[in-house]
Amino acid sequence: MTQPSKLAAGNWKMNGTRAQLDEARALIAQHPDPRVGMALCPPATLLSAMAEIAAGSALKLGGQDCHAQTKGAHTGDVSGAMLAEAGAQYVILGHSERRTDHGESSTDVRAKIESAWAAGLTAILCLGETEAQRDAGETLATIKGQLAHSLPGGATADNTVIAYEPIWAIGTGRTPTLEQIAEVHGVLRGAAPDPAMSLLYGGSVNPSNAVEIFGVPNVDGGLVGGASLKASDFSQIVSALEASA
Ligand code: PGA
Repeated sequence: MTQPSKLAAGNWKMNGTRAQLDEARALIAQHPDPRVGMALCPPATLLSAMAEIAAGSALKLGGQDCHAQTKGAHTGDVSGAMLAEAGAQYVILGHSERRTDHGESSTDVRAKIESAWAAGLTAILCLGETEAQRDAGETLATIKGQLAHSLPGGATADNTVIAYEPIWAIGTGRTPTLEQIAEVHGVLRGAAPDPAMSLLYGGSVNPSNAVEIFGVPNVDGGLVGGASLKASDFSQIVSALEASA
C-alpha cells in the first residue's frame, strides 16, 4: 500500500510583505533537498514573487482560500485557477478562521474543494472542534460531520490533504495531548476515502513540540501558522518531520 507522504505546510495567514520573502530564500537554502514535502502558503499578493524564488527548489506554494467559481462578479475573491497561475500547487480550504470570519459552511468548503481540484490544486481541508465541543465530548462527532459534509466524492491522496486543527489550539500555544491527537487521527485514517491521504496536525506546532507531535501514529506532518513565519523556526519543524520519516 502506498504510504501517505509527509508534508510540512506553513500558513502565513494575513502576514508578510515583500520584505519577508527573505524567509522563503532562507528556508530553501536550509533545505535544498528535504526528504519530506515543504510548502508555504503566503498571502495571495506574495505568491508570484515567492514562486520566482521557489522555482527549481523543493519549496511548494499554496493559497489560503479560493472562491467556488472560476471567475465573475465576486469582489475581493480569487479563484483556484488564479492561484495556480500565480504558482500555487496547494490551497488551504475550510480553515476555522474562514469558517468563523467569513461564515463558511462545510457546504461552501465542499464547493471550493471541487473548484480547487478543477484548477489542478491539491486541497488542504481543515477540520477541528471548538473547546466547548471538546468539553462536551463532541470532538469525534464534529470531525466526522465536517469531513462528511466538506469532502466531495472523488477525493484521493493526490488531490486532498486533511489537516486536523483543534480551534482552541490555533495561535494559543496550547496543544491537545498526544493521546488526543492520536485518537482524532486514528478516526480520520479510518474515515478518509484513500488510506494514503496525508493527515496533518495543526495548532501551535513549534520547534519544541514538533518532534513529539510528528511521532504520533497517523500524523503525516503539520500545518503551521505562527512558527512558519520565520525560516529559523519553520526549518526546525521541517527537520523534525524529516527525522520522523
Ligand atoms: P498556529 O496556526 O500554528 O499559529 O497555531 C495554525 C493554523 O491556523 O493553521
